[in-house]
Amino acid sequence: MKLAGVLGHPVSHSRSPAMMNAAFAELGLNWHYVRLPVPSALFVATVRALPASGYLGANVTIPHKVAALELADEATGAAGAIGAANTLSFTDGAVAADNTDAGGLLAALGEPVMGSTAMVLGAGGAARGAVWALREAGAEVSVWNRTLTRAAALAADFGVRQVDRPQAADVLVNTTSVGLDPATTEEDLIDALWLDGLDPPATVVDMVYGDGPTPLARWAVRGGGRVVDGLEVLVGQGALSLEWWTGRPAPLDVMRRAARGP
Ligand code: ATR
Repeated sequence: MKLAGVLGHPVSHSRSPAMMNAAFAELGLNWHYVRLPVPSALFVATVRALPASGYLGANVTIPHKVAALELADEATGAAGAIGAANTLSFTDGAVAADNTDAGGLLAALGEPVMGSTAMVLGAGGAARGAVWALREAGAEVSVWNRTLTRAAALAADFGVRQVDRPQAADVLVNTTSVGLDPATTEEDLIDALWLDGLDPPATVVDMVYGDGPTPLARWAVRGGGRVVDGLEVLVGQGALSLEWWTGRPAPLDVMRRAARGP
């Protein structure tokens, strides 16, 4: 049996094992995907030990994405440009790193963004992936963050525009953690993300996911917008990781059903 897993801390709520194991079963592959809860101090040693333990690949989530890129022997252009990796592949003793969050976001969007305007909220690691992906796909990207200096640094890194409040755009992408707390109301969200007076754009992507619609999704739908939720982005990045490891086309519908749960 071949092994893969998700390295994170915490990682107990990850839906990736259910999603990836369903995909491997559908493809008839003898792979198994597990949670790998690993604190930062043990991250490098753990990754180095994985290939000899039967692992061919791993996904990487909070807080290890930067460390994953740093330890890799080689990296794709996406991972290098974003400065973070969410996927590792182990072959011939070498660790290769990719960032499928970027391609996963574009796949989840499901519409070309060439020539569109995109408004990215947030300035953390997820924002870096989103800004790079949208810019590479030909969108005109603006970035806003509560802490303006972080947005300014990100905008300078990627050569995009920084704005001092969220602005109208064809696509809005929330990469902040606002809405993660299920008690967040729509008013809380509007206050936290300065959405007061802004009409929901035609397409809204919320990287946050939970069991029901997020406050941002409710805001977007009320305004007639189309919502792409965080689980669809999770499916998009997982599909690209699986294809990189196995060379097989990912069974998207099976992965979607498994990620969404019973
Ligand atoms: P990640 O790497 O997952 O993107 P992060 O670096 O912790 O995580 O970034 C979290 C993002 O959510 C940041 O953009 C943060 O804004 P600040 O840079 O101002 O901290 C944003 N965020 C978190 N809580 C927020 C809140 N209550 N209101 C507005 N933005 C918030």
